[in-house]
Amino acid sequence: MSGGVESVGSKAGPGAGSAASVDPGDTLQNPLYGADAEPMTGSSFKVLGIALTVAMGGFLVGFDATVISGAVPFIREYFSLGSAVGSLKLGWAVSSLGWGAMAGNLAAGLLSNRFGRRAVLLMTAILFLASSLAAALTTSFTLFIVARILGGLGVGAAILTAPIYIAEIAPARSRGGLVSLSQLMIVIGISVSFFSNYFLLSFGADSWRWMLGVQCVPAALYFLLLYLVPESPRWLMNKGRSADARTVLDAVHGRSTAQFEFDRIQASLAAQSRHIGLRDLLSGRLRRVMMFGFGIAFFQQATGINAIFYYLPTIFAQAGGGLSTSFAQSVLVGLVNVGMTFVAIWLIDRLGRRPLLCFGVAGMALSLLAISWAFHAAKGLPGGGGAIGYERIVLVAIIMYVASFAISLGPVMWVLLSEIFPNEERAAAISVVGFWNSLVSASVTLLFPAAVAAWGPDGTFLAYGLLAAAGLVFLTALAPETRGKTLEELERTLTPPLQGGAQ
Ligand code: BGC
Repeated sequence: MSGGVESVGSKAGPGAGSAASVDPGDTLQNPLYGADAEPMTGSSFKVLGIALTVAMGGFLVGFDATVISGAVPFIREYFSLGSAVGSLKLGWAVSSLGWGAMAGNLAAGLLSNRFGRRAVLLMTAILFLASSLAAALTTSFTLFIVARILGGLGVGAAILTAPIYIAEIAPARSRGGLVSLSQLMIVIGISVSFFSNYFLLSFGADSWRWMLGVQCVPAALYFLLLYLVPESPRWLMNKGRSADARTVLDAVHGRSTAQFEFDRIQASLAAQSRHIGLRDLLSGRLRRVMMFGFGIAFFQQATGINAIFYYLPTIFAQAGGGLSTSFAQSVLVGLVNVGMTFVAIWLIDRLGRRPLLCFGVAGMALSLLAISWAFHAAKGLPGGGGAIGYERIVLVAIIMYVASFAISLGPVMWVLLSEIFPNEERAAAISVVGFWNSLVSASVTLLFPAAVAAWGPDGTFLAYGLLAAAGLVFLTALAPETRGKTLEELERTLTPPLQGGAQ
């Protein structure tokens, strides 16, 4: 029965626990906290510092994924990838990171359950470091691919493990904002890679080596900074290392809150630790949250975000704009992505997850339909309709689309995934759903050129728009509101033990 679990923490709430440890001298307002915001205390600074450090993994994910866009023209020449066979090789060179990421997604759950969240993050830092140096220094195409796959392993593991870690160390009232830091770092990484590529262009024929190689600096810094970060207390307790967990909780939250957190985690871990298999995830009490996870992960990618990011210049050119302006337009889109992610972080613990999702996905659907309409209207016009401004409509609609994504599915999907699964199954469940998310992303980006050739850009964006409308229905019906609740409260309400099941 779950009687023991029920009795812990539901009335007192995390705010009550932390109020006891507030340092009266400290009055700085915490921008990450919601409507019931409290002044920042020493312990909130500690949690913020830890979350920011861990979220640097997101920066490396974003940087590594998009840095290749600047290297493409150079590696095409250097590795002689120009012929028809070569263009397939080029596709392989670009997508190898994505295939590595899928393996990294799967490994993340297994390894972070076995060796700890922090150990996996340290491993990703080494992968990013090795990958960037190997890709920058190699003269062999095969080694280049191997290097990118290694980076992909890091991407796949870090994109899942960083939010898990942050959710496990954050207090409930600021968890949404803190977990979103990981997404913020991803979008900052994307933008910085655009800027960095532009800057390094002037290095001539070898500039691609610099573009890929500079990543070794933040990767090495990430590795060093991770030494300052403790292991996740929830993972430690899951492994029966209660004394270590207590030390971490004391150091991070202060004594009184630490006791509160400790009791709550202990209660939720009352059920025996066991091996988690795919069958456990897809049947029984987890089935509903898993199905929701698969659904939101599908809609995050099937509505075209990475098709837009990876093919932006091509899309603008199709709309009748000049290719020469495509760089400035990409930078603009990148900045909007960063700016709106800040807005999402500010709102997610104030308004909640559901309003952001519903409002943002509605915006995505409308913008995608507007892009489709502009392409359709421009069909057959001289210069693709550029002269009468259709490319401007496409640009504005794409900016609206990215802004809507950045305030909803971008960060909120990762926040919800870090919240809806029970402590014991969290890492395994996120691994599987993350793998599915990467698979949909890789398929969409692989099929985008074929879709444009078959249906035209208007038909392709219409399809994404209809998928976004379907996503809106799905999310409105099924997305849970997790704002302000502890992970243990969520576990009790979203995945209650089956009748006659766990003690
Ligand atoms: C998605 C990535 C995407 C990024 C763009 C993330 O939430 O998972 O696939 O490239 O947002 O900002």
